[in-house]
Amino acid sequence: MKGMVFTEFLDMVEAKFSADMVDDIIDDAQPASGGAYTAVGTYDHQELVDMVVALSKRTDIPVDTLVKVFGEHVFSVFANNYPSFFTDVPDALTFLSGIEDIIHAEVIKLYPDAQLPKFDCHFDGDTLIMDYQSPRHFSDLAEGLIKGCGAHFGENLEVARLELNPDTTRFTVSRQAV
Ligand code: HEM
Repeated sequence: MKGMVFTEFLDMVEAKFSADMVDDIIDDAQPASGGAYTAVGTYDHQELVDMVVALSKRTDIPVDTLVKVFGEHVFSVFANNYPSFFTDVPDALTFLSGIEDIIHAEVIKLYPDAQLPKFDCHFDGDTLIMDYQSPRHFSDLAEGLIKGCGAHFGENLEVARLELNPDTTRFTVSRQAV
């Protein structure tokens, strides 16, 4: 996983908890890389999982909650860093429907070693169906990113989740009246 994901996670931990908490979870998780991440480096995604588990133990906040909150947060970081991805995109569902063919397709050009999930997206009327598949099983991260996308566009999205099989999570996303 790209280092930017790690640096954003640790920045968030510092902002929401403290710099000591960052040191503590790195001490607890003992990441093989040593915990000094650079944005352009690439690291084992398990290191992120281990640090989230360590943070969960120290804060008594469930792992899935922490990962979802991080997903929401990191969407706003992406939106700041990649404004061109938002040009002429009218709303959240349009943005989300292009995650595979437009957004992550651009990401892989910028970072050829990025390990991206697969999203199969289609509309059923006004509802967007997103089938998420990844050997890394970051569906909580995906849920947070979807909600972060709604927040970015100032929309109230309802997100329902269904495990289609052990490798595929279906997100059903619809826009609610604000
Ligand atoms: C401007 C918007 C976005 C950008 C620039 C972006 C970029 C990235 C990058 C750089 C990674 C890390 C890849 C790696 O470390 O190897 C990533 C991973 C991921 N992205 Fe996106 N992303 C965006 C929006 C989204 C949205 C809206 C979703 C959800 C619908 C999403 C779902 C994911 C997930 C779940 C992963 C974790 C990897 C995995 O599941 O295997 N991303 N993305």
